[in-house]
Amino acid sequence: MFKPARKTSTITLSEKYYYAEFSLLEDLSVDPKPLQFVNIWIPGIDEVPMSISQYIEGKLYVLFKVIGEGTRCLRDINGFFGIKGPLGNGLDVESYRRVLLVAGGAGIAPVSILSRKAEENGVELDVVWGVKKSSDLFNVKIIAPGVKSVYYATEDCVIGYCGKAVDLAERIVNSSGRSYDLIIGVGPRSMLLEICRRAGKIADVLVSLEAIVKCGLGACGSCLLKPLPKLLCVDGPVFKCNEVIRHLEWCFNN
Ligand SMILES: Cc1cc2nc3c(=O)[nH]c(=O)nc-3n(C[C@H](O)[C@H](O)[C@H](O)COP(=O)(O)OP(=O)(O)OC[C@H]3O[C@@H](n4cnc5c(N)ncnc54)[C@H](O)[C@@H]3O)c2cc1C
Ligand code: FES
Repeated sequence: MFKPARKTSTITLSEKYYYAEFSLLEDLSVDPKPLQFVNIWIPGIDEVPMSISQYIEGKLYVLFKVIGEGTRCLRDINGFFGIKGPLGNGLDVESYRRVLLVAGGAGIAPVSILSRKAEENGVELDVVWGVKKSSDLFNVKIIAPGVKSVYYATEDCVIGYCGKAVDLAERIVNSSGRSYDLIIGVGPRSMLLEICRRAGKIADVLVSLEAIVKCGLGACGSCLLKPLPKLLCVDGPVFKCNEVIRHLEWCFNN
């Protein structure tokens, strides 16, 4: 089930964000799509779900923020890990012409594979990335050179737009006259709820959710998106707004 992989490097992108490269001893069974994820088994410690940031020729990249023991080990331990995936459903970006990714915090992780797939298919990709502290920021084009324009929002107001990613995204959509045929939200639930409420009328909107993922295979029920009968790991993590807005509102009220 888990494929053995050796961690070959960890790059420090900013104060809290890291980009790790894993060499798989055996290729993934299928070429992953943007927004699919893997479970990374850290022997003797834990399993952590991570978006596939990039996958090229047997090398898997994940971008992560250090939160607790699992992500600290991902940063600090070299050696062998187990990789299960790709898990969940991904995005067929080639069906679109102009795409805007609105990312909050670690929601920027899938940008590398998204920009590669967009470039390969002649799709224009712009990115809005919002973080709380400007010390979290790094140049997104380092890991996603195919992105056309990147707009930054910081809540400490030191760099870029002063405020939240969703407000900056709304300004860009309204002021630039650019017509996006897809807006993708990846980040905290409060941001996804706002995106669904505001953007649903102007474009297709997809949101990529997080939940507590254990088995990743639809067997344990830990990723149930209450009060809906949906499991993040097999029905998601990417959904249309109308499929999950009740879950997002439920989380907000509970
Ligand atoms: C589909 C998916 C994709 C993700 N992609 C990314 C990504 O690309 N980059 C990134 O930085 N983070 C991502 N996350 C969040 C990341 O998995 C959590 O931050 C991480 O599991 C925290 O583990 P920890 O031990 O460092 O932290 P702790 O907070 O100490 O974790 C405590 C315990 O809770 C568990 N836990 C906490 N959050 C989660 C979670 N979401 N799912 C399962 N178990 C959890 C941990 O396994 C651990 O047992 C993703 C989560 C999901 C569900
Ligand atoms: S993680 Fe077990 S059912 Fe989704």
